[in-house]
Amino acid sequence: MQNTIPPKTYRVKSFGCQMNVYDGERMAELLAEKGITPAPEGKEADLVVLNTCHIREKAAEKVYSDIGRLVKAGREAGKEPLIAVAGCVAQAEGEEIMARAPAVSMVVGPQAYHRLPDMLDRAVAGERATDTDMPPIAKFDALPARRKIGPAAFLTIQEGCDKFCTYCVVPYTRGAEISRPYKDLVTEAHKLVEAGAKEITLLGQNVNAWTGEDDKGRAQGLAGLIRALAQVDGLARIRYTTSHPADMDDAMIAAHGEVDKLMPYLHLPVQSGNDRVLKAMNRSHTADSYLRLLERFRTARPDIALSGDFIVGFPGETEAEFEDTLRLVDTVGYAQAYSFKYSPRPGTPAATMDGQIAKDVMDDRLQRLQAALNRDQLAFNNASVGQRCTVLVERTGKHAGQWLGKSPWLQSVWFEGKAAIGDLVEVELVEAGPNSLAGRLI
Ligand code: 5AD
Ligand code: SF4
Repeated sequence: MQNTIPPKTYRVKSFGCQMNVYDGERMAELLAEKGITPAPEGKEADLVVLNTCHIREKAAEKVYSDIGRLVKAGREAGKEPLIAVAGCVAQAEGEEIMARAPAVSMVVGPQAYHRLPDMLDRAVAGERATDTDMPPIAKFDALPARRKIGPAAFLTIQEGCDKFCTYCVVPYTRGAEISRPYKDLVTEAHKLVEAGAKEITLLGQNVNAWTGEDDKGRAQGLAGLIRALAQVDGLARIRYTTSHPADMDDAMIAAHGEVDKLMPYLHLPVQSGNDRVLKAMNRSHTADSYLRLLERFRTARPDIALSGDFIVGFPGETEAEFEDTLRLVDTVGYAQAYSFKYSPRPGTPAATMDGQIAKDVMDDRLQRLQAALNRDQLAFNNASVGQRCTVLVERTGKHAGQWLGKSPWLQSVWFEGKAAIGDLVEVELVEAGPNSLAGRLI
């Protein structure tokens, strides 16, 4: 590669989970520190960061076609963009990317992106660099202070996963579970609030595996951290995602009953309603233990909205086993959920299991599952009509005078009237659709 002119504009494109959204924001902050500004809408950027996801589908193929598209668009605009590949595909397939895509000058894994500014200097000097090291926690210390942010902010508290569900790449791409220190998190929460946040969502691949020591040296889990953050003045709402049923403890159930700022919403993936499949997935819970756990949350916080993740067509899943999943859905009545077709991930145990399911069978099961989940989501929204609640205003709506925000149960609510972004307003929910509700300002 040859020397290039230092980039003036950047674009970070994040795919996949909220953790990637958070990482993408932090990479943008690193670039902003170097005086690089976001590329205007519709203009090609001098530097593009593809912050990739490896969890499902043909992740790597998508990256190569994105790179091809960027090179072509750059050529048409008369420039050769600097391209960085970040995220989980970078971690898993860094070497191949470097070998196959000469247009890429930087490959940086999710635990190494604090070194992006350095790599960029080297890229400008004509060097190509890969950094997929996994140093425990060093990244967070090296990141700059948070800038101005929106009213609903993310805060990564934990990364990695030790659960090794047999279908999942996360333990390989994000590494072992590590928790950020208590003190750092309380400090970052204060900074987020000073920068404009009213709501903080605590992020991690498995947030309820978070452990730390408080300022008096006492061991704390996620519930203790949440109680500490609830003391932060100006912070109105706390959420967290995502959790594993095996790491849920009594303290978290109690926190949902007692901490007002902790929102009545629980995203607790189950993946399947059948015990044989759950065992083959290495999930370490049964359908019944999961249901009993949800019941305990409902007892502590009767209005709690429940959400989950599902996989259909795991190797060997029979029709009867899939129907167990439908039955579990009927029993729970989810407010919202995510469902996916099983996707074999190279290097995971399930990828080489017998009984891989045909695509048309998976399509059929996904459609039936989603029909059930959509039905329940609409029912949940319909049941909210007539209720009063606070809405955190996050943006303007489609039409003049319209505002869009979130209810405590994470529903999108739009309304008209006098408000501003960042306000917590009281509304009455007056009309429900499958994906949003209309509210009336009180
Ligand atoms: N195939 C399909 N879905 C998957 N998930 C994780 N790995 C796979 C896979 N190989 C889903 C799970 C998880 C969510 C984040 O993604 O439901 O909870
Ligand atoms: Fe993947 Fe399972 Fe860990 Fe979730 S708990 S990140 S599905 S291995």
